Amino acid sequence: MKTLKRRDLLKILAFVCVFGGIVGQAAYAFIKSFFPRARYEPPQRFKVGPTHQFSDGPNFVAKHRIFVIKEGNKFHALSSICTHLGCNVTFKKLTQAKKVTIHGKEIEEKWEFHCACHGSRFFGDGTPYTGPAPTPLPAYEVSVSADDRQLVVDKNIEVDSSRRLTV
Ligand code: FES
Repeated sequence: MKTLKRRDLLKILAFVCVFGGIVGQAAYAFIKSFFPRARYEPPQRFKVGPTHQFSDGPNFVAKHRIFVIKEGNKFHALSSICTHLGCNVTFKKLTQAKKVTIHGKEIEEKWEFHCACHGSRFFGDGTPYTGPAPTPLPAYEVSVSADDRQLVVDKNIEVDSSRRLTV
């Protein structure tokens, strides 16, 4: 009977280690493929409530980091996320309405948005006028749900800040 030499034994051991490693990795990848790396983000289109629950002016919806803004029977939605580094802006009601010129158009505003983190300030339509914020607060599409008449905000669709939904 032939006995295994030490060198042969080491060769077999090395083969088993390499082969076992490859098979083990393949098995791990196969099993892992049953659990895809999906990103579980909150939905970007959501209901925020019936129109009558909102009061005139900006209504902060903390869960979705937006303001639903009601002006009479008109609605629009603005992001509350500062375009500088992402802090939540807060809305400041002006004690007296003031006229401002935005992109050559004069509008009367009753509130503004301020960011406490680094001092950016935004006009009522979300246009930045001072501080480091480089771009306006995004405005999102607003619609009314056909089934229960709730307002629906779609953060996938940015719209012009002058767009309003009339209900
Ligand atoms: S995060 Fe708002 S000014 Fe910096």
